[in-house]
Amino acid sequence: MPTLHVTNRDGEESAIEVDDGLTVMEAIRDNGFDELLALCGGCCSCATCHVHVDPAFKDKLPEMDEDEDDLLESSDHRDENSRLSCQIPFEDALDGLKVTIAQED
Ligand code: FES
Repeated sequence: MPTLHVTNRDGEESAIEVDDGLTVMEAIRDNGFDELLALCGGCCSCATCHVHVDPAFKDKLPEMDEDEDDLLESSDHRDENSRLSCQIPFEDALDGLKVTIAQED
């Protein structure tokens, strides 16, 4: 199973094994990171699944669509590595991906 590295808001990093078919948001949430609220359940309408992605993986991620871009625009903590984790299916090609949970807006 591919591994995802998650850094929480206190700066602590954990490595989690991710089952097939999950998004990055589901993988984080299902592994007990309560600070990732994911309030809309993954339908790209809340922005509470905001993460910063390791730039080394940027080219392997799916393109950002307009809805995701608009939602991220509402965050004070957006940077060039911001993504909504519910919009990233976690595939084998992303093995070793590092994400940092964004500060709360
Ligand atoms: S969980 Fe709501 S936008 Fe990702």
